[in-house]
Amino acid sequence: MPVKAIVVTDRAAGTAGMMLVERPEPRAAINDVVVAVHASGFVPTELTWPSTWTDRLDRDRTPSIPGHELAGVVSALGYGTTGLSVGQRVFGLTDWTRDGTLAQFVAVEARNLAPLPGDVDFTVGASLPISGLTAWQGLFEHGRLQAGQSVLVHGAAGAVGALVTQLAGEAGAYVIGSGRVADRQAALDFGAREFVDLENEALEDVGGVDLVFDVIGGDIGKRSAGLVRAGGTLVSVVGPPEVRPADGLAVDFVVESDRAQLGEIVRRVRDGRLRTNIGNVATLEDAVAALNPTERRKGKTVIRVRP
Ligand SMILES: NC(=O)c1ccc[n+]([C@@H]2O[C@H](COP(=O)([O-])OP(=O)(O)OC[C@H]3O[C@@H](n4cnc5c(N)ncnc54)[C@H](OP(=O)(O)O)[C@@H]3O)[C@@H](O)[C@H]2O)c1
Repeated sequence: MPVKAIVVTDRAAGTAGMMLVERPEPRAAINDVVVAVHASGFVPTELTWPSTWTDRLDRDRTPSIPGHELAGVVSALGYGTTGLSVGQRVFGLTDWTRDGTLAQFVAVEARNLAPLPGDVDFTVGASLPISGLTAWQGLFEHGRLQAGQSVLVHGAAGAVGALVTQLAGEAGAYVIGSGRVADRQAALDFGAREFVDLENEALEDVGGVDLVFDVIGGDIGKRSAGLVRAGGTLVSVVGPPEVRPADGLAVDFVVESDRAQLGEIVRRVRDGRLRTNIGNVATLEDAVAALNPTERRKGKTVIRVRP
């Protein structure tokens, strides 16, 4: 049976080129599950990533279905798949080079998913994988954050930054958030102890920090290198830092799925330690308009594929 999905075919068109169409029902390959998608997360920069347009052998893979975060219910198992069962609620991160989650069904490797507890809404579940795992891996794996250290979190009121701010605070770090002036209160509400308005205040006034978590890059990224104390780390999720700290590390990475970390993240959401940052929720029918906003986004847009 065909499934409804958002596709993109024109690289130059960006999100304006998204179309709601019918596509063949995805089939579960070895170690895959097929998931009936209830909610889908989309990152605004996805249509600039090469993996949206070409596969691992650099072959054109359009029309491709964007969206790499999901929460839903397993509807079929592929050959050899273990660890998940039909009817199970799941959430997670799908492969960058395969058709994604802005669709009624998606095929995904079981290892990329984790169980979604029954009391966590699908919309919340779909908002967590990329932001939550990026924050977790950047802080604790790449940044090796320790209690008592100071962290400068750029874009602290954004999708990734809000989770970085909260996880760093919970881990006992002193968090300084940054962003636009309108985001000051939101960043403080997520637990930042100070806020730098990047439009009107001098970043350099922050002084030295142990860790910078950069989701902005460009000039902000370059100027951040000078703030990293000896032995500290500049972690970037927007490409390799152009300037490295004089006496510290510079790391850039792309988030990977991790079942245990997804479990840690959702556990914190359930017990109230972590608040997700959802801005707008729209149906699949309204997804193209919702993903082409005319006003500034605050938080993540989640597409509710099933009511
Ligand atoms: N490598 C990875 O694994 C990975 C994973 C997740 C995300 N990312 C990347 O990380 C970036 C952020 O993602 P996100 O989902 O968190 O986006 P987001 O929700 O838009 O958050 C970014 C925040 O930073 C603010 N900001 C951006 N440029 C700024 C500037 N020059 N001055 C002040 N504030 C500024 C944004 O404000 P405005 O909206 O007003 O610009 C927004 O509040 C994206 O480029 C995304 O592709 C990478």
